[in-house]
Amino acid sequence: MNLDNKAREILRQNDKGGYTLPTHGLYPYQWNWDSAFAAWGFATFDLPRAWDEFDTLFASQWDTGMVPHIIFHEPDPGYFPGPDVWATGQSPETSGITQPPVAATLARQVWEMDKTAGQNRLAKLYPKMVAWHRWWHHVRCIHGPAAITHPWESGRDNCPDWDIGMAGVDGSGVGDYTRRDTGHVDPSMRPTKAEYDRYIAMVQFGVSVGWDQSRIVADGPFLMADPGITFILLRAHEDLIVLGDALGEDTTEIAGWARSLRAALPQIWNPDLKAYDARNLRDGQFAGVLGSGAFLAYLADAGNPDLNAQLARVWDAVQYGIPSADPQSPMFDPRKYWRGPTWPVVNALMAIGLRDSGRSDLEARLRRETAQLIQKHGFFEYFDPIDSTPCGGDDFTWTAAIWLTWAGNDLEQAKGAA
Ligand code: SER
Repeated sequence: MNLDNKAREILRQNDKGGYTLPTHGLYPYQWNWDSAFAAWGFATFDLPRAWDEFDTLFASQWDTGMVPHIIFHEPDPGYFPGPDVWATGQSPETSGITQPPVAATLARQVWEMDKTAGQNRLAKLYPKMVAWHRWWHHVRCIHGPAAITHPWESGRDNCPDWDIGMAGVDGSGVGDYTRRDTGHVDPSMRPTKAEYDRYIAMVQFGVSVGWDQSRIVADGPFLMADPGITFILLRAHEDLIVLGDALGEDTTEIAGWARSLRAALPQIWNPDLKAYDARNLRDGQFAGVLGSGAFLAYLADAGNPDLNAQLARVWDAVQYGIPSADPQSPMFDPRKYWRGPTWPVVNALMAIGLRDSGRSDLEARLRRETAQLIQKHGFFEYFDPIDSTPCGGDDFTWTAAIWLTWAGNDLEQAKGAA
């Protein structure tokens, strides 16, 4: 089947009526940043459905402004940790943490596809996005860069960036539980049991303080500055300003958030690593590892010659796409979730940054390599960047979405051949 048609079929198959599953089996609910990518993909053939996706995501926004990372619309015993473990008391039930705020950036992409048709939908969504960004600024940017309280918030769950923070989390008392993810995909491609014990310990801490953010930030087991979210949020603030201006809104407050976040970028520049780096906010220690979050700097126009050199080094060390961890580090593992594989969805975000910062040659290379992976193997969650082995879940919503919006562009012949 033509890959465009297959990508559209995946979006339709994962569509639960207003919200979209990342993939059947492994992720049977609505995930925050997956959903924003789904909207972008739907926008290529069904604009009203794209706006619906944002609406269902923001319908579960908390009173605090936080938009949760999972919305548990319908019970599904195939996922752990489910709503009973999170115990947030929301309706519908949700998790108690958030995820990368790509919504404003992707809502802008959707709006630009048809500004007239999208204006009313955008006007409804805009104040909700502002409330979420206000939450980020006041709750999670109090140290300067954007902070995460659980590795899952980064979206890059088990990348080496979080190892120093994870080392301080005690997972020994979490009790018995049964993982479900390892029943759906090859366990060697998923996080370890030691990591899962700690993930659950962090959830249990959140439950113990009634998901009170001030207590989680002040006393929780994990608090790290995330370069990836910092750059995504900075870009999203700037996109939100464009959207607000188009609606005739006063965007002064958002401009202030963007200014202060940009002023905090030196805090996550590690001069020894010569790259942006995650940082433990409990003791100031740098992670000392180069992760794909650093290269999201291009998205926020925060690249520099040292970072360009690092990008060339890690990219040239593999065959396909930008790896999630440094291939020349002993921690690199090319098929282990976020510890080495290349992720089409992150490549798509980086491509926006590369294109907007005038590096169209690099954007074209990234598009070509990402497309090759999908053409060879289909719409998998992630891939081995050295030999292209497909990894994780299949028929993945965001991989299909970025094919339709980006990776499949200008590949007419190749698409027909698949
Ligand atoms: N990505 C995590 C999982 O694997 C949580 O969002 O379930």
